[in-house]
Amino acid sequence: MEKITSLAKRRGFIFQGSEIYGGYQGFWDYGPLGVELKNNIKKEWWKYMVYRREDVVGMEAAVIMNPIVWEKSGHLKAFTDPLVECKICHKRFKSDDEAVVKNHEKEHDGKVSWTEPKLFNTLTEVLLGTTEPKEKAFLRGEITQGVFVNFKNVVDSTRVKIPFGIAQIGKAFRNEITPGNFTFRSCEFEQMELEYFVPPNEKDSKKTFEEFKKIRMDWYKSLGINKEKLRFHDHEPEKRAHYARYATDIEYEAPFGWSESEGIHHRGDFDLKNHGLKYKDEMTNEEYTPWVIETSGGVDRALLFFLIDSYWEDGERVVLRLHPKLAPFKVAVFPLLANKLELVGKARFVHKALSVNFHCAWDDRGNIGKRYFAQDEIGTPWCVTVDFQSLDDNTVTVRDRDTAKQERIAIDKLSEFFQNELTR
Ligand code: GAP
Repeated sequence: MEKITSLAKRRGFIFQGSEIYGGYQGFWDYGPLGVELKNNIKKEWWKYMVYRREDVVGMEAAVIMNPIVWEKSGHLKAFTDPLVECKICHKRFKSDDEAVVKNHEKEHDGKVSWTEPKLFNTLTEVLLGTTEPKEKAFLRGEITQGVFVNFKNVVDSTRVKIPFGIAQIGKAFRNEITPGNFTFRSCEFEQMELEYFVPPNEKDSKKTFEEFKKIRMDWYKSLGINKEKLRFHDHEPEKRAHYARYATDIEYEAPFGWSESEGIHHRGDFDLKNHGLKYKDEMTNEEYTPWVIETSGGVDRALLFFLIDSYWEDGERVVLRLHPKLAPFKVAVFPLLANKLELVGKARFVHKALSVNFHCAWDDRGNIGKRYFAQDEIGTPWCVTVDFQSLDDNTVTVRDRDTAKQERIAIDKLSEFFQNELTR
């Protein structure tokens, strides 16, 4: 794990939030490469869950909503974690986070005694308004409620008919008792969610739930994650969130153990009923409260697991074998020598032409071997080198990150070559 956190910082993927002031626990900043990787993950999710389907539309709700939303959704009462306090040093922990609790006990040579678990609400409060007392509102603890409160707006303003889904990606906030494991448990994070509305039918809705389990697992696999490191973990009734009739996690085997990347929930009519929302079937005139199947993934967790999973050491070479669709740069372009004007000019031309369609890096420092290594470490799938032969025959070498093999390709065929590779 240390290798991942150090690479993430050294190469500009992830920085500690507010680092120059000593950091701020539970908050992280994404650097120049991190933001690209994150955007690519979100783009691939949106393509898979929205564009590929006829029955899904997207939306983006406000982060702060009328506080009544959280009362109706049950979060004010039930969005809680069990908190215990160490009686020696008064540090507080989530009592069901067994590894963290055990680790703390070790720090005190096993002599810790704990307070009784107390339920702690993890919604983050904010104060709004210009007159005192200010109004208490909440940063959303899940992005989901923004979709539910707009259910009628979406039905009335589009042509959707049940069954259909509303997708959303956005920030959520939780006042986590024990943020940790790098970005895995943060206080500010992003979620990518689909709320899929179906008729209230036990058998059919369970079938849809099973279908979405497969769809979501396939997404991770389609982006190259080692399938041996992925599994479903069904939740026992007492472990389910307050809204869930059934719940399954997709877990990844991280260096800190099997860990949740995404939750798939059968939310029944819990939310729409609480918000007093119904659906009218135009064909039958029947009015009913739809049931909801939800897929809820963490963008930051997916990013962390893609980073961990792609990390590979090949002798001295460190390689991020990220799926090309996720890689921050698709191509790096080099002139063989930085002091030969003709090579630099031609390489600049290639870089400019490819940049129209692909995010391209440029490097003319040091020797070619070092430049390859630097690109391997950030996951760039292909490096293009303009050499002396390029001046004669307008071909370049294209070097593959994973095999380190090179082939010569005509400059005017490069775009097509990369496009084909990226759509494979
Ligand atoms: N709308 C349902 C919902 O929010 P959840 O299981 O509480 O369900 C969904 O959260 C996903 O959000 C998780 O699977 C995880 O990927 C991500 N997530 C939740 N809490 C997180 C945290 N503190 N830090 C980072 N990601 C988190």
